[in-house]
Amino acid sequence: MASELKVEQEFSKVIRERRSVRKYDSSWKIPDEEIKEILAEAILAPSSSNLQPWRFIVITDQEIKAKLLPIAHNQAQTTESSAMIAVLGDTEAYSNAETIYGQASAMGLMPEDVAATMAKRSREGYSSLPKEKLEDIALVDGGLVSMQLMLAAKARGYDTVPMGGYDAAALKELFQISDRYIPVMLIALGKAAVEGRATNRLPLEDVVHWNGFQA
Ligand SMILES: Cc1cc2nc3c(=O)[nH]c(=O)nc-3n(C[C@H](O)[C@H](O)[C@H](O)COP(=O)(O)O)c2cc1C
Repeated sequence: MASELKVEQEFSKVIRERRSVRKYDSSWKIPDEEIKEILAEAILAPSSSNLQPWRFIVITDQEIKAKLLPIAHNQAQTTESSAMIAVLGDTEAYSNAETIYGQASAMGLMPEDVAATMAKRSREGYSSLPKEKLEDIALVDGGLVSMQLMLAAKARGYDTVPMGGYDAAALKELFQISDRYIPVMLIALGKAAVEGRATNRLPLEDVVHWNGFQA
């Protein structure tokens, strides 16, 4: 019981202490293995029908970061952080339905026939949706994985800043990303040189409505 409480307190601390950090120690390189551990926790995020539409480009190479700098409106964290992570959403994530559900049945998480039915249903259901709807889904799921990535990083003593201030078309051109994928956000990841500024939130009463919605 006591140890459960400790875990809860620590999780709450991670959430409360996460801040957008924009000044990084540029000499600090997070080992690739640690970045992989952060990503491995991030991808435990939920997604629509577990289709996991997120894709990541991890940019640690200074030359590539320099190319990204003008695309990210010259925001200094682009070159000063340890890694820049471009989070992308796959609008054709349904094409992995058989792989994902096949893996679930191989792991004993569901019977083979159930997995096959669910895969078929997912592929047929999602592939018939309009592109805009598939983009919405990829953005929602991409947002969830991004948040989880930032908290996983904070739990390890690293900091992040989510970035929507970039030229999505130029990003797609730099990495030759096809229209199948939609950029969700960039995330700078590194060791803070200067703590993030404290920020405020609207009072809970202003954003929460109980049993109805009167805005
Ligand atoms: C989708 C999204 C896009 C953002 N884009 C930028 C950005 O381009 N540059 C930046 O410095 N901060 C960016 N931010 C960070 C916000 O300014 C920050 O989250 C907000 O001010 C609250 O501060 P906090 O993250 O420290 O709690 C972005 C945040 C989100 C969620």
